[in-house]
Parts: sequence; structure tokens; C-alpha cells
Amino acid sequence: MERLSLDVNGSFDPAAGGLARADLDAAAPAARAAFDGFEARRRAGEVGFADLPADRHAAEATVRLAGELAERFDNLLVLGIGGSSLGGRALVAALAHPFHNLLPREQRGAMRVFFPDNADPATFEALLGALPLGETCFATITKSGGTAETMAQHLALRERCLARFGEAGYRDRCVVVTDPEHGALRAIALAEGLRTLPVPANVGGRFSALTPVGLLPAAAAGADVPALLDGAASLEARSRSGAVRENPALLLATVLHLLDARRGRHIDVLMPYADGLRETGDWFVQLWAESLGKAEQVGPTPFRAVGATDQHSSLQLMVQGPHDKVVILVRVAHPRADLALSVPEAYRRFPEIAYLDGHTMGELIEAERRATEAALRRAGRPTLSIELPRLDARAVGELLMLLELAVAYAGGLYGVNAFDQPGVEAGKRYAQGLLGRPGSERYRDELLGRPAPDPALILG
Ligand code: PA5
Repeated sequence: MERLSLDVNGSFDPAAGGLARADLDAAAPAARAAFDGFEARRRAGEVGFADLPADRHAAEATVRLAGELAERFDNLLVLGIGGSSLGGRALVAALAHPFHNLLPREQRGAMRVFFPDNADPATFEALLGALPLGETCFATITKSGGTAETMAQHLALRERCLARFGEAGYRDRCVVVTDPEHGALRAIALAEGLRTLPVPANVGGRFSALTPVGLLPAAAAGADVPALLDGAASLEARSRSGAVRENPALLLATVLHLLDARRGRHIDVLMPYADGLRETGDWFVQLWAESLGKAEQVGPTPFRAVGATDQHSSLQLMVQGPHDKVVILVRVAHPRADLALSVPEAYRRFPEIAYLDGHTMGELIEAERRATEAALRRAGRPTLSIELPRLDARAVGELLMLLELAVAYAGGLYGVNAFDQPGVEAGKRYAQGLLGRPGSERYRDELLGRPAPDPALILG
């Protein structure tokens, strides 16, 4: 069976400022401790994401509900933010046709799926104005059940649906994905008789791509959910060893941590050479940043790039800027399509174009990936390579599970709890204070009590 592979040779290249094999051997006990620490939390039922692929009940219910919605509606709006949006977006972008929402229904064979994500009224209003509400349903997705941005979107859409279609029409159009027991949205769903899907209590937002949070949009867009979970299950099964040379996710976490601790490479760049993985890069940024940026001064900075696009943008910084980055290149061995290139006679006198004749676009992007890796290594920059056999549901399941397990182990190596996010609380409290939420007065007063800005530092 074809499967994901991880190649860390580019991080052990002495010419590329790489690590020594002895570094990896010396890190093996710390890696094992990180693995054991994670497994203990998993066994205690505290952290549940790695067990999701083994439990197919929620996935089956999700696929069923997506099918029911698809029979009646043409558009699904996913109302959610952060971990309640990024996983679904990554899955839809990787697994649906690249221009899925533009295709006619008979060609796409599934619903159009939209992720407004932000609470930017200009975007949201424009989206509502562009979609026929009669053919549109929406999933309000929030684990906590009260996230302001998500609930603001829910309120706006609920009001419109009630006004146009009445209570029954609103109920038909709205599905809720939230904590099985707690939170305002759970209580609202119960009171309003809305259909619900659960986010397991022990799965946090950024680890919820394989719960209904990500699976509902993915299924609505026609993705093969069982294959996605099979891929995740297979990677999880390959990661049951505490030996760093046997467990791909542990190897990834350990090499990245070593490059940071020993070589000052504290910026982790994920650079897939496939447009379908662009949103997976955004998901990776959140996964890394919220899981590892903790405890003052700890945490690698994640960065997302896409090959070959970023060869004409951020690659300059990666090749010649500070020696603080490691680039994780992602290759899709067998792309879904290829295009033959033929250079007409009239163009052949231009050497910068003539050599493309007889090649394919797939050969071009693959040559660019290999060339970029070589250029990085020649410039003394470490790399890692992940190869997916193809961009399909199984491989995407493997990739997501690889990165989720790696960040969990990295939490242990960095000595932080990868499963909380205390740093985002203060900002939320200030905003709630400004909008008058009872109990947040202290934050409002503190914010409004700050000294007025120095006009000398403002140019208007
Ligand atoms: O990863 C996380 O925990 C966060 O990014 C959350 O997903 C995000 O804040 C949204 O939270 P909720 O799902 O409770 O609306």
C-alpha cells in the first residue's frame, strides 16, 4: 500500500548547517519521554484526537447528515473560526475540485461550501447577498458554544432565515456542531430543536479536523470520509512507538526541536508543492502557533509557503535571510493531472522558453521542488521532505495525523502543554468588555483607562 513518507536527510547534511546523527541519538530519551507523556494523557482520556479515526460512528452520522442537507440545499455556509473553520477548509481545498464552488451542480455532484470565517461585516454581507438563501443551509460550529465571531454570524443568518422562511425554515437550514453537553449553543440547539453533531469533549478546536467540525464540510463537498479516516488511522498505527527512528511523527517533532534548540532554526516553514495544500498550510500555522507558543519565550514560529508560487516571494528570505528557518517541503508524487508543453517554432529562438518543449507542467513543478531543496541546502539551510503518494483522502488523513501527533510530541519536547491556549483569552476579554458583557467591566475599564496616545506619534 502506498503511504506517506518522511525524509529528514536534508536536516543531517553537514553542508547545510545540519544536525549530526549523534544529536538524534542523544535526543532519543527526551523523545521517548514526550511520547510517553502524550500516551499517558491519551490513556487517561484527556486528549482524544488520535483516537478519532478508530471511532466511525460520529463520522457515519456526519456523512448521513451531509447527504440529507445535499438533497435539499445547494450551498453550505460554515460558520466557525480558528479550529472550527481551518480543518474543514483544509479538507475541502485538498479534496474537492480546485474550483468546486464554480462548477455546475451536475459536474460537482455535491454542495458548494463557503467558509466566511471572519466576522468582517463587509465579507459576510457580501456573501449573503451573493447566495440564494432559499438554496442555502448553514452549520454553526463552535466547540465552546459561545465564540463571539461565530455567534455574530449565526445571529445575522438566523434573523434572515426566520424573516424569510419562519421557524421551521430556520430549523431546516441550521445545523449545530458543538460540545456534546456544555455551552450556550448546545442549550440553544435543544431549545430551538436544531440538529446537532458533537465535538468530543477531549478534542480541542485545532485538533478537530477529523470530528464533525471538519468532516461535515468535507462530506458536503463530496470528500471520501472513510478513506480520510483510514489514512489517519494508518499514520496513527505507524506512530505507536516511543523510538524516534520508528515513529514518523516523533521523528518530525524531534528533528524540528533539535534544529531549534541546537541550530537556532526557530521558524518552521511548511511548503507544499501543491495548490490543494495551501489551506493545510494555514491550518498548520494555527496548529503550531496555538499549541507551542507558550510559557514566555517558548515556541517555534510557523510560516506557510507554497511552491512554486513562493519561489517568487518568500524563498529569497529562506535562502539568504537569517539562519533561523527549516523548510518542510511537501511533494505529491502523482498529481491528479498533467499538461504537455509544446513550444511553437516561432518561440524556439528564445532559449529561456525553448527548453520547455516536450516537458510537462508536472515535470516543471517537480524540477522546481528539487531545485529549491538543492538551493536551500547549498545555502546551508536545513530541509525536511514529506511525500504523499497522491493528493487524495487517504494521504490527507495521513498528513493531518502526522502533523497533529508531531505537535503533541513537540509540546513535550518544548515542555509546554500543547492543548491549551491561555494567550488568546485576554484579547477576548477586552473585546467583551468593550461590548458590555457583564463580568468583563474590569477589562473595559482597564482598556479605556490607558493613557491617551501621544499625538506626536500619530501622523494623520
Ligand atoms: O484551537 C482552538 O482551540 C481555537 O482556535 C478555537 O478553535 C477557536 O477559538 C474557536 O473556538 P470555538 O470552537 O469554541 O468557537
